[in-house]
Parts: sequence; C-alpha cells; structure tokens
Amino acid sequence: MTDLRSDGAAALEWAARYLERVGGLPVLAQVAPGEIRDRLPRSPPEDPEPFEAVLRDLDEVLLPGVTHWQHPRYFAYFAVSSSEPAILAELLAATLNSAAILWRTAPAATELEAVVLDWTAQLLGLPAGWHGHIEDTASTSTLAALIAARAATGRELVVCSEQAHSSVEKDARMLGMRIRKVPCDDQFRMRPDALGDLFDAAAVVATVGTTATTSVDPVPAIADACERAGAWLHVDAAYAGTAMVCREFRWAFAGVDCADSLVVNAHKWMLTPVDCSLFWSRRPEDLRRAFSVIPEYLRTPDAEDALSLSEYGPALGRRFRALKLWAVLRCYGASGLRDHVRRGVELASRFERWVAGEPGWELCAPRPFSVVCFRLEGDDDRNRELLARVNASGEIFISHAVLNGRYALRLAVGQMRTTEDDVRAAWEILRREASELCLPG
Ligand SMILES: Cc1ncc(COP(=O)(O)O)c(C=O)c1O
Repeated sequence: MTDLRSDGAAALEWAARYLERVGGLPVLAQVAPGEIRDRLPRSPPEDPEPFEAVLRDLDEVLLPGVTHWQHPRYFAYFAVSSSEPAILAELLAATLNSAAILWRTAPAATELEAVVLDWTAQLLGLPAGWHGHIEDTASTSTLAALIAARAATGRELVVCSEQAHSSVEKDARMLGMRIRKVPCDDQFRMRPDALGDLFDAAAVVATVGTTATTSVDPVPAIADACERAGAWLHVDAAYAGTAMVCREFRWAFAGVDCADSLVVNAHKWMLTPVDCSLFWSRRPEDLRRAFSVIPEYLRTPDAEDALSLSEYGPALGRRFRALKLWAVLRCYGASGLRDHVRRGVELASRFERWVAGEPGWELCAPRPFSVVCFRLEGDDDRNRELLARVNASGEIFISHAVLNGRYALRLAVGQMRTTEDDVRAAWEILRREASELCLPG
C-alpha cells in the first residue's frame, strides 16, 4: 500500500534533493540505447510493491538514463524549466484528476483555463477578447489551426517558410494537405515577396522565433497577404512568445493582432513543465464548427455546451493543465517572468560577445532572444566533432543547426537555474575542446 503522507513526503524530499544536486550530474544521459530497458524487469510484478521501491529504482535504474533538462548547463534545443510552483501544481492536478470532457465534468478546470489564457494574453499584449485554451504541444496547437483553416477556407495548401518548425510539415502531412515552403532572407526570415499566389492557401504559418535561429518572420506583411487572399494566418511563437512579457521584445509581435490563431508554449520559456501549449484564436466559431461533435451521451443544456473546451480542439478528455500555469503566474507574477526572460537574454548576449571577440570563431545568425548560433571557423566536420566532444563530457549539453548549408552550434539559454558562471563554463569547455581538436596528429 502506498501511504500518501509518508510516501508523498519521501517523493517531495526526492524532488527537492534532486533539484539541489542536479547541477552535479552529467547533463546528457551517459547510456547507450537499450541500456535502461535491459536493466528493467521484463514483466510487471505479480504482487504489490512498496512505493519506496519505485523511488529506489528511480535513483538506481532510471536516473542514469535521464538527460537533465533541469540542469543549469542544459543549453540544447530550447532550454526550459519546471519551476517549483508548477511542480507542486502538477501533483495537485493529478490528485484532483479532473477530466474536462464537458464543462460540467470540470467547471473549475474549464473556467480557470479561460482565465489564465486571458491573463497570459494580457501579459503578452494580445488583443482583448480572443478565445484561448491549452493543448498538449505546439504540434497539436498548429494541427488544430490547420484543421480549422481547412474547414473555414475549403482549401488544402499550407504555406510556411523553409525555417518553420517540422511540426508544420508533419501536421500538413497528417491532414493530407499540401505544403509550400517559402524561401528566407539572409536573416532567416520568411520573404513576403516570395509568398507567391495565396489564393489556394488554407493557411500561412508565420514563425516568431524560429527553431534554428529564433528569427522573426515579417508578420505584418504576411498578414496583409493573407487578408487579401482569404487565407488563415497562424503564428507559431512556441518559444519566443513568452518574451512578449517584456515590452522591449514586443516589436516581434507586430502584426500578430491580425492573426487568426497563435501558439505560445508555456512549457518552453514560461517556467511551466511539459505539457502546456497555449492556443489562441480570434475565430472561436470556426474552431467550434471544425471540432464540435456531440454524441447523445455528452449532451447537456446549450448554455453549458458552448463552454466545453473539447469543442474547440482535437481532445475530448482534457487534463487540468491550467492549474500549473496559474501557480506560475501567481507565484512569479509578471515581474518574475520578465526577470526570467531578461536574465536569459542577457546571458546569451554575453556569450555572443565572447564568441564575437575570439579569433577562430564566428557567429552564424542574428540573436533576437536567448539563442546564439555560432561555429568554429573551418569545415563542418570540426564543428560536428566539437559538438560530440562537449556533449560527451557531460559538462554541458548543446545542439546544432544547419544554416546556409553549414553546420552551426546552438547555445540556448532559458533554464531558470543557469547563472553567468554556467554560461562562462560552457564557453571555457567549448574553447578547451576546440583547442584539443586543433592539436596536430
Ligand atoms: C518554433 C517551434 N514550433 C513548434 C515546436 C514544437 O513544439 P512541441 O514539442 O510543443 O510540439 C517547436 C519545438 O521546439 C518550435 O521550436
């Protein structure tokens, strides 16, 4: 039997202790594929085991196979954070186990979701009155946008830039829609002059903060083109959207008020654990037309129907994700979120200056937010090898991109525990490993 009080206290102690010591663990899991699986029993236990056995195996069996996203020297892809209030709120959401299939099955979860989406819309400077709800991931949010766009326009083409996230292509493929990729300018932004004829486009997906370089597509010009052609404009701001809490970054949201839908992942830069993808639309009736299927067993009085968020997206059973975002917004406040974003951008800008000032290294893209793309001068193989060496060291974890056909390294700042010392350490480790590469023989 599991005792919620005593086992729960042990689990919380585990969590607190983990967060204290995570900085001393290798960032990237140091295991080979299949190794963890081999350490686990082939079959489930016949008899109940105590919860402490689960905690023990978490330490002994699973932890070596964890890549530590909560590590202060996690700089790969997009660095994210699961903050303490959100961790606790996840526990409480699981305790309540609200499944918001209909408003009446989860009135508090449904209405809190609407409120936190309104609050966040205000923090990001979005127009008042947009419908907002939470999906699991940006992949699903964009899927929902494309489904609504196709239903609203009767068209089958999706247009995005060559720097758009692969989820756009995957979503289009899953829907059997065609995709056209628009070339970018020399700063990795979609070229509006190359959009082509949009009269058969269901949707154009513009990105504010692309995955490789965090470039910002020119949304105002794209919005004009969509308006003229009757195409749905979906804005993917999965990563950079959070930066809009700071006025100095709002330039990047110019034109977003004209979008038909928008996605911002709270589970990227907003201190909220996966999964929590915020989806807004100024066309909720189009969403409802696309998604509302109400079988007899789910029928309720009309006044309740319209409030059921399952009518605005793909999922029926929706978990209480709003609780963790609510906890974050309350426990950090707007000022705490702004500090978090600004700290990340400031640290990235320092790293950028160090790279710029060091002979033999080069920057590969402008840095609007907290991601720096850089490389060792010379061929791609040196950079590939450098990446493999620094990651194998377990001291830092960074990732790569291919920009203008050349292999580039990416350092993404965003983990809430990252300090200047960690970024400085990353730079020293990169320089150390690079100098080893350069040794003759
Ligand atoms: C710009 C952008 N859009 C969408 C996604 C997909 O996010 P998710 O994992 O929530 O589906 C990513 C992932 O990094 C991204 O960078």
